[in-house]
Amino acid sequence: MEKKYRLATRVIHEAQEPGDWQGATLAPIFQSAAHEHQTAESLSNTFAGKGEGHIYTRLSNPTNTVLEKKLAALEGGKGAIAMASGMSAISNTCMALLRAGDNFVSSKSLFMSTYLLFVNVFKKYNITARLANILDPESVEREIDENTRFIYLETIGNPGMDVPCIRTLADLAHSHGLPLVVDSTLATPFLVNPISLGADVVVHSTTKYLSGHGNAPGGVVVDGGHFDWTGNRFGDFKPFVDRKGELALLDRIWREHHINFGTTQAPFHSYLTMIGLDTFVLRMERHMANTMTVARFLKTRPEVLWVNYPGCDDHPSHETAKKQFGKNGFGGLLTFGLKDTEACFRFIDSLKLVYHLANLGDCKTLIIHPWSTQYVAFDQGVKTGLGIRPGMLRLSVGIEDVDDITDDLAQALEAV
Ligand SMILES: Cc1ncc(COP(=O)(O)O)c(C=O)c1O
Repeated sequence: MEKKYRLATRVIHEAQEPGDWQGATLAPIFQSAAHEHQTAESLSNTFAGKGEGHIYTRLSNPTNTVLEKKLAALEGGKGAIAMASGMSAISNTCMALLRAGDNFVSSKSLFMSTYLLFVNVFKKYNITARLANILDPESVEREIDENTRFIYLETIGNPGMDVPCIRTLADLAHSHGLPLVVDSTLATPFLVNPISLGADVVVHSTTKYLSGHGNAPGGVVVDGGHFDWTGNRFGDFKPFVDRKGELALLDRIWREHHINFGTTQAPFHSYLTMIGLDTFVLRMERHMANTMTVARFLKTRPEVLWVNYPGCDDHPSHETAKKQFGKNGFGGLLTFGLKDTEACFRFIDSLKLVYHLANLGDCKTLIIHPWSTQYVAFDQGVKTGLGIRPGMLRLSVGIEDVDDITDDLAQALEAV
């Protein structure tokens, strides 16, 4: 679409082709495992990568392709692959970049499964995730050596809530000939387009705000298409550069990992995600406003020992977030502290409106006690090191009437 349209228009109209869909205004669900070709030559050509035909849904699917085009456009990338989950997007991207013996430098402030993948699983392949304080570019730079392949960060750390400066880290990565990979799940294109700040690859769990209804697991990798893969560190990318030029990484992710690991997105989930996208901007405006109100409310309560939300003036990442996200807001997630685990359990058990479950970015308000759930199997020292505390609650603020959210939190705080 032409650049002049704003995000709220583009989420609805990007990649729309009603003429190809019998006039339907939403892409149909192509619920087929494979696609028939009328001639032997046509199927052979499609296998050879000529044209845009489809072969088999594990490889590509027309419904998924529409979502891919929409998300690539919304992130300002040159191509995208929709996958079965955010973790598929993260693992496939990293695996495509890494070889045995390599390392990469990552923020310590990571989503729990990403942390486990990086620290535990990659070890099996002799790959080291060098965890650094992403807010301190010098400490990131100290970890880079000749075997480093990329720098990785979350736009807003989950659940750390820290906001690194993408421009600074992209410049740092590029000065060493490295790409910057950004998980922008918590920020979404509503807050920022990391590619416009120099990031090379953006991954999302579309399960969250992009779909918005907590009903469609999914992920996406968006390739900015501006990284130079012919540099010294990436000689092994030559076949992919020869084949796909600026989209060499996306080709490698697809060809080596996505199709062979079978991390296919269900076309139905792409369809649900696109329904969600139509109302994305409206929902995000409400998430941002509600979360700010809830953060301010929590700060007034004596039972609440601390509130961690980059929208608060006293938050260590407030200035960076303001600069990076402009007037758009500070995200829909926050953490806050009660006295201990018992207080958190009493609080959760007293909630009447807020859902208690392991997700975020739903239009409903959601709560979880990370210490006893997502991190329950973690070594105590490790979880403390990651900033997870017994009295910490993570709240994903929904789009209900904000007075109903704060009323529910207030009555549950009375029970603490
Ligand atoms: C920041 C972040 N990245 C990635 C993921 C993984 O996404 P999925 O659950 O869709 O695999 C999550 C899930 O909560 C997340 O919060």
